[in-house]
Amino acid sequence: MSEQKRDSWGSKLGLILAMAGNAIGLGNFWRFPYQAAKYGGGAFMVPYFIALIFLGIPLMFVEWGLGKTGGMYGHGTLGPMVYLQAREKAKPRNALIFGMLAGALAFSVVVLVNSYYNQIIGWTLGYSWLSLTGGYKDAAKSTVDVFLDYIGSPVNMIFWIISLAALAFAVMRGIQKGIEAWAKVMMPLIYVFGFILIGRTLTLGTPVNPDWSPIKGLEFIWTPRWADLNWAAALAAAGQIFFTLSLGMGIIANYASYLKRDDDIIVSGFTTVALNEFAEVILGGTIAIPIAYTFLGKEGVGAGVGLSFIALPNIFRTMVGGQLFGAFWFLLLFFAGFTSSIAMFNYLTSLLEEDLKIDRKKGAWIVFGLYILVGLPVGIEPTLIRGSTAYLDSVDFWVGNIYLIVLGLIEVVVMGWLYRDKGLQLINRGSYWKLSKGFYRIFIQVLTPLIILVFLIGFITQQKFDALFSSPWATAGQIVVLAVLVIGLVMSYKSIKDKYGREISENRIIVVKE
Ligand code: ALA
Repeated sequence: MSEQKRDSWGSKLGLILAMAGNAIGLGNFWRFPYQAAKYGGGAFMVPYFIALIFLGIPLMFVEWGLGKTGGMYGHGTLGPMVYLQAREKAKPRNALIFGMLAGALAFSVVVLVNSYYNQIIGWTLGYSWLSLTGGYKDAAKSTVDVFLDYIGSPVNMIFWIISLAALAFAVMRGIQKGIEAWAKVMMPLIYVFGFILIGRTLTLGTPVNPDWSPIKGLEFIWTPRWADLNWAAALAAAGQIFFTLSLGMGIIANYASYLKRDDDIIVSGFTTVALNEFAEVILGGTIAIPIAYTFLGKEGVGAGVGLSFIALPNIFRTMVGGQLFGAFWFLLLFFAGFTSSIAMFNYLTSLLEEDLKIDRKKGAWIVFGLYILVGLPVGIEPTLIRGSTAYLDSVDFWVGNIYLIVLGLIEVVVMGWLYRDKGLQLINRGSYWKLSKGFYRIFIQVLTPLIILVFLIGFITQQKFDALFSSPWATAGQIVVLAVLVIGLVMSYKSIKDKYGREISENRIIVVKE
């Protein structure tokens, strides 16, 4: 597909809101609070900010740069993007290997992370409904049982299907009329709901115990506890930075591929990070943890995955106005999840569009079908075995952390060491602020890849691989992960070979656009 025919962002504001929507997701409001609580609040925040500076911000620029390279040549997927940068130094045949690996990892992430991410979006929509209609108000039934009954009932999968259909409708309309238009509505609503919930949270007082208050909850997160620093918290914090900023997924680069040649990268990329972090640590951090602390004390904030769906509903059902505030909370989660899931949805739609020449309208519905297929085991397992999520956990083991980090490492090494100073020129081109050569050398070429490597080794050595085959559902998850990776390798091989077959066989650069 030629560059002229590619869709592009309609306005700067639309681009920024869509990119912020891509990053701001369930990770900010659902994952961040329970990760921060699990790893000791202030003890988690120290490595979190270190990872933000050394990994998050540099990688954000790298992914925007990759996207711009891809967009210039008409590509929206990682395989050809990474190939194009790698071939500068590595020769086309070797560059093909980098491209295939990157493309396969990104493909696996957008297929498999979204297989469960969409299910959780469905839960948030269902819980918005339950909140408004008083569905978890009956005090005779614990919110644990409400949740297990909810995910155990196949009928509730309707909320997942409705969410997926809405995503398909949005994506089929294209970048400006679909993704950008929805981001312009949903993103402001996230902030409005967030501020309303913060206002309510901070005025909760001490309804249960004079030592439990929203301020105590804030102190729990914001008091740096140097003595409690530990390796597990550092690894979790690095994983959270990748997840929350949508790094190592291919979806920031995909959105950046719709940039125009001289569009700014630095201010826009930095604004994306800033909006995401505001939503995460200010909005995300000032709602769930302080509410849970106020009603349940320090032990209650460690409710893990259940913080949003079990602990908070328990509180919403007793607090004044809880029905409405509960609905605001779950709608906020829904909008946040929707604007991130749409980026993964668009990645696959653009892959079908560019590699298999399938029209966007049709492609969006094919992706809808694919997400139904890969999401079914996630949805069905807890309806057969109460509360069981072995399949989801088994899939998430690879795609929720390890793949993101490996892909981030490939991206930064390719840009820093194979694309070299062309990467710096590319990032600076059209940018209002410029990256200095020193920043590029110190961060993109040395510190960021080194730190990612350390985290990657740390992650792998900490994992318990035997849990991956602990049940038939977990084993099925591993088979699916492997199958999707193989399909991803074939797809990215095809997409690079189709366009650059001649230069790979002659092993020299032929196609050049400046
Ligand atoms: N960055 C997205 C999130 O935080 C994936 O949920």
